[in-house]
Amino acid sequence: MPMNKKTLLLSLTILNILLFTSIFRSIKEEERASLRDTANFIEENNRGLQLNYKQERPRDDYQDGVNKLDFDTKSTQHPNTDSPKVFQHSAGPTPIILHTYMRSGSSFVGDLLKAGTGTYYTFEPIHALQFTIRHMVPIRYLNKPSKIFNNFLDVAVPTVRDMVTCQFSKLPVPYFEDGFFSYSTRASIFTQCNKGERMITDTDRANTCAEELSKECSKSSSFVAKIIRLPLYSLEELMEQIPNLKIIHLLRDPRPTMLSQMRAGNVKHKYLKTNVTSYCNRVYDDVVKADDFNRKFPGRLLRVHYEDIVMKPFELTRKMYDFAGMPFTNRVSDTISRLTGHTEHHKSSNDKASAWRSSVDMDFIHTVDTACNLLYAKVGFQAMATEADIRDTTKGLRGPPPPFDDFRLA
Ligand SMILES: *[C@@H]1O[C@H](CO)[C@@H](O)[C@H](O)[C@H]1NC(C)=O
Repeated sequence: MPMNKKTLLLSLTILNILLFTSIFRSIKEEERASLRDTANFIEENNRGLQLNYKQERPRDDYQDGVNKLDFDTKSTQHPNTDSPKVFQHSAGPTPIILHTYMRSGSSFVGDLLKAGTGTYYTFEPIHALQFTIRHMVPIRYLNKPSKIFNNFLDVAVPTVRDMVTCQFSKLPVPYFEDGFFSYSTRASIFTQCNKGERMITDTDRANTCAEELSKECSKSSSFVAKIIRLPLYSLEELMEQIPNLKIIHLLRDPRPTMLSQMRAGNVKHKYLKTNVTSYCNRVYDDVVKADDFNRKFPGRLLRVHYEDIVMKPFELTRKMYDFAGMPFTNRVSDTISRLTGHTEHHKSSNDKASAWRSSVDMDFIHTVDTACNLLYAKVGFQAMATEADIRDTTKGLRGPPPPFDDFRLA
């Protein structure tokens, strides 16, 4: 019956519309959560829970995105057909990746690193790509056809490679359209050239602008990229292709990290256990991979702890600069003083990195301590048995890791 067919078609259409709106809503919801995260982080800063960290950039600079990653953590290889075996890297800046996690002090450490003279810095370069992939739309490029990717790493890893080697015209369009792009060093060169437009409407013009930016980038002595969205193993091919690439692996105690993610609304109380388990497993995998990198690529990976940087900012910043081969100038010391209240010879008495210990509840501590047990054994974090232990800020939360490896997973 034609009438029946029509009715069927109509109801199918309505069903489709409903389905699409609900998918669209859930995507919007995630983006809203991400924005909420920004607002919360700023509030947290204002309450002085972190450092006495001055805001020197627009607000959404602090948006660290979501913890959830869009890749299959089981697959250790991903096809990357158009990547060269060894990358022909002309004399450009020394690339340094600040590899870390949401709410691990990454913006603070990024600010310490970008204070160097001749440093090109990018903030969250693959943020927009992660969202674009979720929308399942083709990724546009400036000088080649659009392409659909199913795996985030397939687009993210080559993007990082082309970016840290200053080949901006090879980068996907969402990189330039992302709000975070404007906080990169010299991004204004691109924006001015693109007639002040944030969206890329004329790809030929944008391509020319990207080449202009590349020229500037090539004059820098180092390129620092802060990245919180990649597993360390995915950078192995870049370590092979770019012989002077170095990685700073920034870790923070999982307890304040999780507390901060909860305050931000990224982790809900009812999911705490699952979320903290996957978070700590992810960090554990990275730490294991970092050991592997240290064997394969000696001198090219440095692990630093956020808490150490907060306590001894001059010593640790020098250590990072020496590792990266960047000159530690007066501008760097001034930045440290401004951000931390410490001066080279006078410590600030304000121990803001421990403030969370005065009010945190023991159930939360036990949940994290239990879920992160393997990571603790690997890195030396100490579980806290009693409330007195956690309140007493003279008691350290990290000791030396055991001298032997942990074979419980073997
Ligand atoms: C926390 O776990 C829930 C349930 O598995 C999941 O839907 C959510 O995406 C996780 N959140 C984070 C930040 O990992």
